[in-house]
Amino acid sequence: MKEFRIVPTIKQCDTVKEFCGQLNPARGDLIFVSGVTYKRYFEGLTGEARVVDYRQYIQGEPSDVMVEKMHAAVGDYEYHRVIAIGGGAILDVAKLFALERMTPVLDLYDKKFSPVRDKELILVPTTCGTGSEVTNIGVLILESRNTKMGLADDALLANEAVLIPELLEGLPFRFFATSSIDALIHAVESFTSPKASPFSRMFSIEAIRMILNGFKEIGAKGEDARLSHMKGFLMASNYAGIAFSNAGCAAVHAMSFPLGGRYHVAHGEANYALFTEVYKTYQKLQPVGAIQDLNRLLSGILNCPETKVYETLEALLDQLLKKQPLRAYGVKESELEEFTDIVMEKQGRLMANNYTELTRETVLGIYKALY
Ligand SMILES: [Fe+2]
Repeated sequence: MKEFRIVPTIKQCDTVKEFCGQLNPARGDLIFVSGVTYKRYFEGLTGEARVVDYRQYIQGEPSDVMVEKMHAAVGDYEYHRVIAIGGGAILDVAKLFALERMTPVLDLYDKKFSPVRDKELILVPTTCGTGSEVTNIGVLILESRNTKMGLADDALLANEAVLIPELLEGLPFRFFATSSIDALIHAVESFTSPKASPFSRMFSIEAIRMILNGFKEIGAKGEDARLSHMKGFLMASNYAGIAFSNAGCAAVHAMSFPLGGRYHVAHGEANYALFTEVYKTYQKLQPVGAIQDLNRLLSGILNCPETKVYETLEALLDQLLKKQPLRAYGVKESELEEFTDIVMEKQGRLMANNYTELTRETVLGIYKALY
């Protein structure tokens, strides 16, 4: 049986002022926002709420150790509402702060105790990629394990996801590129997932169409062409989040996790390093099925034959972000076996959503081809 749902209430505000007017922040609210975003948009609008500049604790991809430090800094402040404004990193971390108990974080991720939700959670994305505002997943680097791990539980679902295009105005091109490529991959992986339904596919298709049409314009006119489409990219990222929160991400994400966990490669960039090779492999292994529908969709958007969609896609994405071989990130050839073991043993949650089964040998072969 397949199921489709959208849990958080999705709200759209044109401006931060409008958002804060409705939010009415007060004592008992815990707000996570970067110092820069606070100064630019929120100063004077947060009342008596406790505001935490999360960048003092979270640098780059969040880890269990960073979250422990942030938890200690919040201390015994009593709060009943968590509001996070930022990229996927802080949105994922904020989900943990809305739980009755969140430490030791490693024990939570080891499922030594169950996540129980007892606070209201409001998530406001400032990038156009992760879709974290609508998913029940919190991804952390587990420092002692040298990899990334996702905790998936409905206790992590937000009450509200609020889309405010104004917040994306200052997003630098590189962050725009990595986050929107991540969103594209969410849409594609959930499209070919065995858990996909006609409902989730509708969101995948629209996200793919909006993102690739935007990329084509950027490819033709240059980086600044993105600026008039940020509202569309934010929506597309949310659509892709809805699709993958129902149908799931798969091998591209699973295989990129060791790269992100060990070499701290930005999430979207690590995914792109794996993306087209995984799909070329699917195509070879199982050319009949949902991948035909995907290829038809991509060939229509990219104006290319169905047999050339992955090369054409790569040429387009390369205009935004250059695809790198794994060795460029410092990966050693001797680590590829270990990466494969991590994927096969620890990323079962994602690997269950693969379009077709990937054996250990195939996964290792993909890593080797990309090395
Ligand atoms: Fe992702």
